[in-house]
Amino acid sequence: MESMWADLVPVGRDRATGGYRRHAWEPADLACREWFAAEAERRGLDLTIDRNGNQWAWWGDPDAAGPGVVTGSHLDSVPDGGAFDGPLGVVGGFAAVDLLRERGHVPGRPLGVVSFTDEEGARFGIACAGSRLLTGALEPDQARGLADRDGTTLAEAMRAAGHDPAHLGRDDETLRRVGTLVELHVEQGVDLVDRGAAVGVAHSIWPHGRWRLDLAGEANHAGTTRLVDRDDPMLRLAAAVMRAREAAAEHGTVATIGRVEVHPNGTNAIPSRMRAWLDARGADEADVRAVVAAVAAAAGTEAVVESWSPEVEFSGVLRNRLAGLLGGAPVLPTAAGHDAGILAGAGVEAAMLFVRNPTGVSHSPTEYAEPDDCRAGVEALATVLADLTGERS
Ligand code: GLV
Ligand code: MN
Ligand code: MN
Repeated sequence: MESMWADLVPVGRDRATGGYRRHAWEPADLACREWFAAEAERRGLDLTIDRNGNQWAWWGDPDAAGPGVVTGSHLDSVPDGGAFDGPLGVVGGFAAVDLLRERGHVPGRPLGVVSFTDEEGARFGIACAGSRLLTGALEPDQARGLADRDGTTLAEAMRAAGHDPAHLGRDDETLRRVGTLVELHVEQGVDLVDRGAAVGVAHSIWPHGRWRLDLAGEANHAGTTRLVDRDDPMLRLAAAVMRAREAAAEHGTVATIGRVEVHPNGTNAIPSRMRAWLDARGADEADVRAVVAAVAAAAGTEAVVESWSPEVEFSGVLRNRLAGLLGGAPVLPTAAGHDAGILAGAGVEAAMLFVRNPTGVSHSPTEYAEPDDCRAGVEALATVLADLTGERS
């Protein structure tokens, strides 16, 4: 595990901040994909890349003896992300395979390790794009047309990386291979700290989404334009930002405006137009929608939904089985989105294990998990995978 981790540490790392910029189909992401292929090969696992670019490494043939049990996560990151969100689950998946082999476990069902493509949606805007495409939750034409900040489309980016975007879309051949998915992930909060446990089991994922706000104004001189003559969209955005915080507090949700584009972005000019993105989440969908409506009203514009993830409750049977196998591990909800949630939403039996995060910080260079807790997570994953795959008779 340590050596796999060490190989990944420098890939896509910003020297100044220590954070990661592994954005889908860019060079750092391609290096991660090569790393995945090499780790699969090193273990004699069969590598397949599905129509949507997700990578799978199989121990056993899921077509002949499937459906299999799959573990894994993602290797891409948010802008300036942490080292653990995603990679812990992929490295942990390979490490669990190693542990099972060391212990002489011969799985009764095929066991796969997956790396989902573009989980964060940092480049093309839609989170969990790889798993949404796989399950049909994202339309292929919409996906192909998504553009990054430079105007490069997802289709162009895939093609440049050697992946044909013509075949994007729901992939039943791949889905048939997945009987159960267990994603290991760093916790993105401090529940496990509070409960004094290194590992927990996910209960559910809050409903959440992303919305775009387009604000138009009138470009003009910052010195010579009287205040009364201005049409400054920055003021409406400021009102929207303040309203997001206030409405979230009123409704018991969270809401964030973390990305803004200002045109022309000059110090001495009133902006001509602006674009901002709202991320809103909560335990209750009606509250989330009320917050979005309040923010749109404050901005004086429509909130255009870019992606929506309904509430997911992971299988109670599987959850209880995992918690029992792990000696009564705590079961906790999360407000973060995950590929396991997308598959669960599509009817695949899925579960998640969380590893304690001492500060709860995530989507930041300071995201961290103690090595002992990561090892405990891999041990827990190996225990669960041994149980789910059974011993070949
Ligand atoms: C994924 O990390 C998310 O934004 O929830
Ligand atoms: Mn994340
Ligand atoms: Mn993640």
